[in-house]
Amino acid sequence: MHETTLASTLEASLVNKTAKIGVLGLGYVGLPLIRTFVAAGFQTLGFDVDESKVNSLQAGKSYIEHIPSDWIARCVSDGRFSPTADMSRLAEADAVLICVPTPLNRSRDPDLFCVEDTTRYVAKALRAGQLIVLESTTYPSTTRDVVLPILEQTGKKLGEDFFLAYSPEREDPGNPDFTAGNIPKVVGGSEPLSLRLAAQLYRQGMPEVIPVSNCEVAEACKILENTYRAVNIALVNELKILFDRLNIDVWEVIDAAKTKPFGFQAFYPGPGLGGHCIPIDPFYLTWLARCSGMTTRFIELAGEVNTGMPTYVVRRLTDALNERRKPLHGSKVCVLGVAYKRDVDDARESPAFALLQLLQAGGADISYNDPHIPQLSKTRHHHFTLKSCDLTADFLASQDCVLIATDHSAYDYDFIVRHASLVVDTRNATKGVREGREKIVKA
Ligand SMILES: NC(=O)c1ccc[n+]([C@@H]2O[C@H](COP(=O)([O-])OP(=O)(O)OC[C@H]3O[C@@H](n4cnc5c(N)ncnc54)[C@H](O)[C@@H]3O)[C@@H](O)[C@H]2O)c1
Repeated sequence: MHETTLASTLEASLVNKTAKIGVLGLGYVGLPLIRTFVAAGFQTLGFDVDESKVNSLQAGKSYIEHIPSDWIARCVSDGRFSPTADMSRLAEADAVLICVPTPLNRSRDPDLFCVEDTTRYVAKALRAGQLIVLESTTYPSTTRDVVLPILEQTGKKLGEDFFLAYSPEREDPGNPDFTAGNIPKVVGGSEPLSLRLAAQLYRQGMPEVIPVSNCEVAEACKILENTYRAVNIALVNELKILFDRLNIDVWEVIDAAKTKPFGFQAFYPGPGLGGHCIPIDPFYLTWLARCSGMTTRFIELAGEVNTGMPTYVVRRLTDALNERRKPLHGSKVCVLGVAYKRDVDDARESPAFALLQLLQAGGADISYNDPHIPQLSKTRHHHFTLKSCDLTADFLASQDCVLIATDHSAYDYDFIVRHASLVVDTRNATKGVREGREKIVKA
């Protein structure tokens, strides 16, 4: 078939929603994306190498708190969503969206193993007329230099036999105001037809599509967004330490500053950075800069400040215990909230692990509570096997200190402060508490 015929056939199937949408990687990004395209009226195929996830989805069970099981069960049973680990079925999809992890390796350089591995699956099943879009966060040039060569090894030609684009995922898990279906989508194509088709695809499910000149601009856009957050969070984290020394409440300062109607956006300090994105993505850029003989001092400095925060928090906690004539060694400390941010069930890269590690190294008798994470199992990054403790009045009273690492809205902060003897609060979660304020130390 002539290339323009292939493109027109695909475009028509996108517009009339007969195209099948395949999503590779059914995690925090991939599942909400499936949801968006199902809601837009498409039939979807979901692929994952983790068979336990596929089995769970096929049985109608969600493993992500904010994606309801009954929705999955409904879509699986009526055929709008087919989860599978059989990568040969990739050929059935007209558009394939890649949402696999992009972590750092041990030396904190980009590890594109999952992207490469996935692309090889796509290449194996590649058929004429398919659109492939990379959504994983990565450094500029990945689509052109890593994904494209693997697809071209099939002998098929970009812009003729297949189409390739990059569109960054801007999912904010747990944010009730923004979901994949109402966040504008930035799209860059590897060549003009790829851009046209990818933009058409996203127009079906997203409120606004922002086409940019090429994949590199779209890749850089996502890294800019996350670096902007990392740098601004580092700034307020550093100011928190300074203002504390000056006896000024940084949260009150930020609340006052944000009344300025222009030129200021509020970022909040915390116990350190967490999640799959902000602590990791800026280092994709740092690595790329090093490859180009440049250093990115802002990013490095932000990383240094943010990774130093758990040490600062534990020092404040140790000082607070000391004032109460208690050494950290042997003190009972319960960490509240191990998820990396409020109201999510995701503990990846959470600063709570650094806090638990530092507390344990200092001889504290540690425990934790998280209403969204009932237990901790050992991972590549930490060795904790703990169960979430019940936050009863007796339990709180038995602790020498309660450390608020994540400000889940399920917590009753009045209750916590009433029954605990010391509360170290890294999120200003207790700002509404009236009684027992002498027990609260902000850190
Ligand atoms: N979580 C977020 O809030 C968020 C937001 C924006 C962007 N991102 C980016 O999106 C990408 C995915 O993140 P996530 O949070 O969804 O990760 P995740 O770990 O929740 O999900 C990724 C899924 O991909 C699967 N997978 C791994 N290798 C695979 C392969 N070769 N083939 C098929 N499946 C494979 C994993 O089993 C997992 O289910 C990352 O690049 C991340 O930086 C994440």
